Amino acid sequence: MEQIVLTGIKPTGQIHLGNYIGAIKPALKLAENNNYQAAYFIADYHGLTKIHDQEEFRTLTYGVASTWLALGLDPEKTIFYRQSNVPEIFELSWILSCFSPKGLLNRAHAYKGIVASNKQAGKEVDDGVNMGLFTYPILMAADILAFQANMVPVGKDQIQHVEIARDIADSFNHQYGETFVLPEYIVDEETSILPGLDGRKMSKSYHNTIPLFEEPAKLQKLINKIKTDSLPPEAPKDTESSILFTLYKEFASVEEIAQMRKKYESGIGWGEVKKELFAVMNRFLEEPRKKYQELMANPEKIDLILQKGAEKARARTLPFLEEVRKRIGVLR
Ligand code: TRP
Repeated sequence: MEQIVLTGIKPTGQIHLGNYIGAIKPALKLAENNNYQAAYFIADYHGLTKIHDQEEFRTLTYGVASTWLALGLDPEKTIFYRQSNVPEIFELSWILSCFSPKGLLNRAHAYKGIVASNKQAGKEVDDGVNMGLFTYPILMAADILAFQANMVPVGKDQIQHVEIARDIADSFNHQYGETFVLPEYIVDEETSILPGLDGRKMSKSYHNTIPLFEEPAKLQKLINKIKTDSLPPEAPKDTESSILFTLYKEFASVEEIAQMRKKYESGIGWGEVKKELFAVMNRFLEEPRKKYQELMANPEKIDLILQKGAEKARARTLPFLEEVRKRIGVLR
């Protein structure tokens, strides 16, 4: 049986290095594996739980699409689509919501986190929570289950969501017989914690990110901002605890990494490391950056690719939803 690997990115911020290294890079590698059919998408309706500005929503959505394509996703080989172009997902989301205990969603980390911080601030527990945010994991379950995905590459923060999808699928299967494939999450242990400018996990909520397609001058500036210790240039330095080295490893060749390791041992100034980091990063990013900018200037090209992708996607979701409707007794 064909194995389906599926993942999505929601358009809620500029794509940064952490997204690339933690999610996009491993996903692209899986997509190249001929044993798998990759289904990668832009989770635009997940983005709507947060982004309520029309122009921003549009730009961020095209930004996610252009990023995938600029980094080499092949829309012929993968199923590459925009969530909102596949209506079956939303029908399934409703169906699944009728099998989702409310308590299960009360316990979802994202929602629980907001409730906790509201309590601490002395606010109403559900302050600022819309129903889209609360039922977010159900829509995500629908994304996954509509494609009968076997594997879902995600960041650590999304593991619970995949488990929720399994739980919901399991209780549906229990009632109606085997219908949904139970998905497994794949977490890239090594790369899932890319540090940001301040050393904490790179995340848009910490404002410590390096946007992936930043102009070269701005990129060098951001690299220069990365926190280092105050050891003098000639002092030997530890590679393991160095944010700069962690980033360098992602873009340099094996030989370059070995050389850099030696320089750390014998002593190198942080300014020098930062220059070399910029060089290897920019070498890799130059071409994708150009492609990205070209795509962003031609959204009609992106639309066309995504429409074709949606057709491929619906060739799967339409017949499968028929089956689901039969199971529940909506269809004879
Ligand atoms: N919730 C995911 C995130 O924030 C994005 C997402 C939406 C997703 N639907 C998905 C990821 C389905 C994997 C599978 O990163």
